[in-house]
Amino acid sequence: MNLKRIVTGVALVALIVGCGNNKEAFINDNIVFAEKQIANTLRVSKDINRIPRTIESDGSLKEVNIYNWTSGFFAGNLWYMYKLTGDEKWKNEAITRTEVLDTIQYWSGNHDVGFMIGDSYGLGYRFAGIKEYAPVVVQTAKSLCERYNDTTKCIESWNYRKAWDGKTEWFFPVIIDNMMNLELLYEASIISGDERYSKIATQHALTTMKNHYRPDYSCVHVVDYDENTGAVKDKATCQGFADNSAWSRGQAWGLYGYVLCYRYTNDKQFLDFAENIAKYIIEHPNMPEDLVPYWDYNVFDKGFKAEWDYDPNHKLIGARDASAAAITSSALFELARITANSYYQVSAEKMLFSLSENYKARENNQYFILDHSVGSFPHNGEIDVPLAYADYYFLEALDRYKECK
Ligand code: GLY
Repeated sequence: MNLKRIVTGVALVALIVGCGNNKEAFINDNIVFAEKQIANTLRVSKDINRIPRTIESDGSLKEVNIYNWTSGFFAGNLWYMYKLTGDEKWKNEAITRTEVLDTIQYWSGNHDVGFMIGDSYGLGYRFAGIKEYAPVVVQTAKSLCERYNDTTKCIESWNYRKAWDGKTEWFFPVIIDNMMNLELLYEASIISGDERYSKIATQHALTTMKNHYRPDYSCVHVVDYDENTGAVKDKATCQGFADNSAWSRGQAWGLYGYVLCYRYTNDKQFLDFAENIAKYIIEHPNMPEDLVPYWDYNVFDKGFKAEWDYDPNHKLIGARDASAAAITSSALFELARITANSYYQVSAEKMLFSLSENYKARENNQYFILDHSVGSFPHNGEIDVPLAYADYYFLEALDRYKECK
């Protein structure tokens, strides 16, 4: 354990939280800021078919259509505002921004429907008890399961594409992000009573454990399978620095995924696995003192070769990824609740405090909550910008912090 970091963390917690009142003030200040930002987003983003995602290079708001993998997060942010404040105005806005995604339940073009429907309809069902949303979650699970293959024993993430080398072909690529779809499948089984969805979720998690993870509990971004034999054909990165590196958001998706698998299955192997991933992240020698990681843990290390057009002098090569910290913080709050281990609680709080203190978006930064995330460095896109999903997991982490004793 990195004692210095933990001691600093404990000191920071003591300083900022101190007593219940300070915790309440911290949460309230962040809610007030988020309310202001999101109210402004609603004002400038009026067309409900255009969904706020990030900013363009000229600083203008970048909006996407419903088929973009990020389409569910804005509705999700509104649902979290409703949960955090109890104010019906957020619920009404959330309903409007959720129902625009209606047709996605029948879509099986890629694996991202867990984000799109789980964080919109799924939250509306859980937070507001809207019963009509339950069949949408189940239909989405049905569509997602069309991508499950009994031979590979996992869900295909993307359709055919090539790796960065321009030659390697991926026919059945599965990315670590896919672990985030499993919540929707488990929920669909609870709603419908049909165990097929939860069985597929558990099998996908087991296959990913075997093929995505390395002995040190870091994971590769992409594993490509032979769909006729189930054999692993390639292990590579798409959004990380190198095929053998640890892309920060990927590590966060994996951690979050195994914590949620334990929540639904009570299977101790998922909890043990999540704890090992958590330790890998928190104690990584390249983790900065404030626990907001660089966009890839190995970006400055020797022995990692980028296959994409890499410029070591890029002025943002050392960019942090606030989205990875927000996802990790949220997952660690849940891990702390499950294990009652203050080590996870202190780390989750430290990430949340760092984001709140030093990674907030400027007020005119198209009204996102956080700045300083990285979408995909190798694609030279969305580097050191606000991202709707960073805001989503920040609000979720804030809510989990609020709920914990
Ligand atoms: N799921 C895509 C990403 O994390 O960038």
